Amino acid sequence: MFKLIGFILIIEQLYSLLCNCVQYDVVYEWNNVNFTWRSSKEYNAAISSKKYIPENNIISGIKIYKNKVYLALPRIKNGTPITLGTIPLSNKVKDALIKPYPSWKMNTGKHCDTLHSVQSMEIDSKGIMWVLDGLRINNYTKCPQKLMLLDLNNKGKVIHTYFFPETQSSSNGGNLNDIVIDETDGTFAYITESSDQDPGLIIYSHSKNNSWKIRDSTMFSDKEAENFTVSGAKIKGFHSINGIALEPLQSEEEVRFIYYCALSSYKLYAIKNDIIKEKTLCEGTEWRGKVQLIGTKEPSDGLIMDNKGNFYYGMLTAHAIGIWDTNKPFNTTKEIIKSKDNISWINSFAFDSNGYMYVTLSSSNKVYSVFYRKKKKVKNKFKVLKIHTGSNSYLHSRALNNL
Ligand SMILES: *[C@@H]1O[C@H](CO)[C@@H](O)[C@H](O)[C@H]1NC(C)=O
Ligand SMILES: *[C@@H]1O[C@H](CO)[C@@H](O)[C@H](O)[C@H]1NC(C)=O
Ligand SMILES: *[C@@H]1O[C@H](CO)[C@@H](O)[C@H](O)[C@H]1NC(C)=O
Ligand SMILES: *[C@@H]1O[C@H](CO)[C@@H](O)[C@H](O)[C@H]1NC(C)=O
Ligand SMILES: *[C@@H]1O[C@H](CO)[C@@H](O)[C@H](O)[C@H]1NC(C)=O
Ligand SMILES: *[C@@H]1O[C@H](CO)[C@@H](O)[C@H](O)[C@H]1NC(C)=O
Repeated sequence: MFKLIGFILIIEQLYSLLCNCVQYDVVYEWNNVNFTWRSSKEYNAAISSKKYIPENNIISGIKIYKNKVYLALPRIKNGTPITLGTIPLSNKVKDALIKPYPSWKMNTGKHCDTLHSVQSMEIDSKGIMWVLDGLRINNYTKCPQKLMLLDLNNKGKVIHTYFFPETQSSSNGGNLNDIVIDETDGTFAYITESSDQDPGLIIYSHSKNNSWKIRDSTMFSDKEAENFTVSGAKIKGFHSINGIALEPLQSEEEVRFIYYCALSSYKLYAIKNDIIKEKTLCEGTEWRGKVQLIGTKEPSDGLIMDNKGNFYYGMLTAHAIGIWDTNKPFNTTKEIIKSKDNISWINSFAFDSNGYMYVTLSSSNKVYSVFYRKKKKVKNKFKVLKIHTGSNSYLHSRALNNL
């Protein structure tokens, strides 16, 4: 018995040398994405008219505010009644019914001032959710790409809408993928535009109610990542700039790094916010010289930074989550979670206010693969992991941190 325990301890120690692993919980799992229908009549009608095709609903972005989890459900296929929803913050729930947010009407409206296809959102320190309604890769809608600000402390009331010009993100093929918020100088949003035809980084100034876009070769996919596979399914095509993360704020004047990477790439790049906040600087060429290669890593979808300066990223082919303390060299990155069985496609990150990070897992490559849909049933397609980090999101200053 003692020998066995000793042996287990040695194995665990060896494992912890390779992986700085932390405890995690699977808090939500969905095999069946379903909603809080108003009546069984409405539900049955949606099923029979194919307005709701359960297996076509996809969970992607996640953010948390107070006691609610907000989820983005991009309309990649038909039969998706909801594109933004909410569930209560709780533990261990299977197939939690998702409630449309802010309402059914805002999710099913035909007008361009309702939500059409949301992939990501961010919640600022005042409880305003910045919703990126920007997936236009199919014919579901041809409404212009937009950013909608919803007040979470006032039933999700729309307090601002900004439509992006077609020249920055097309209503026919555009793909606004991810967003971070910089609450200095009147507040900025930095947004990745992942479309095949015109990838780039969009800068939105809230005080100016204006946006501009920068494009650079570092935002394109990389030929050397053409063959990467996750869980035996090859990633088809080349996917450009996707994940984005912003350094936490320490003082009002601080210049901060914005990190970004293409999905089909092993490289992580960064640029400083003081450069891209200036529209005139972005119109010149000098900023290009300021793009820095930070290091090489596994291909990732979502990225996030916490208020202690830790950078978290999905390691797609390793089925792991990586952490880099940005106060140290990049080669000190470690894995905090690794599981071939339990982790497939790390999609999006969020923090609650109790020192936990949440991660959506989406098996994207399998969910979208015709082969997997036909030959193998993908079990528990979507999951949310909860990981103790003792920190909060980058939007909460390091100085304020005492978790
Ligand atoms: C979907 O949810 C509704 C309640 O909103 C319920 O009546 C229905 O049975 C659920 N369908 C499935 C397949 O779970
Ligand atoms: C969108 O519609 C056009 C014209 O009807 C069609 O040619 C095109 O293939 C459609 N695109 C997608 C992604 O379904
Ligand atoms: C902000 O810009 C959008 C253009 O997308 C315009 O429709 C809206 O009226 C502007 N809002 C304000 C408050 O200026
Ligand atoms: C990707 O796979 C193809 C076919 O096996 C091979 O020809 C090509 O060299 C590979 N590319 C890289 C960058 O490894
Ligand atoms: C990590 O990079 C630093 C320079 O940034 C270098 O001094 C150090 O030797 C490297 N460590 C390893 C383990 O490669
Ligand atoms: C995978 O998850 C199951 C159930 O949550 C757990 O029992 C198992 O230890 C996990 N495996 C790894 C390698 O983390």
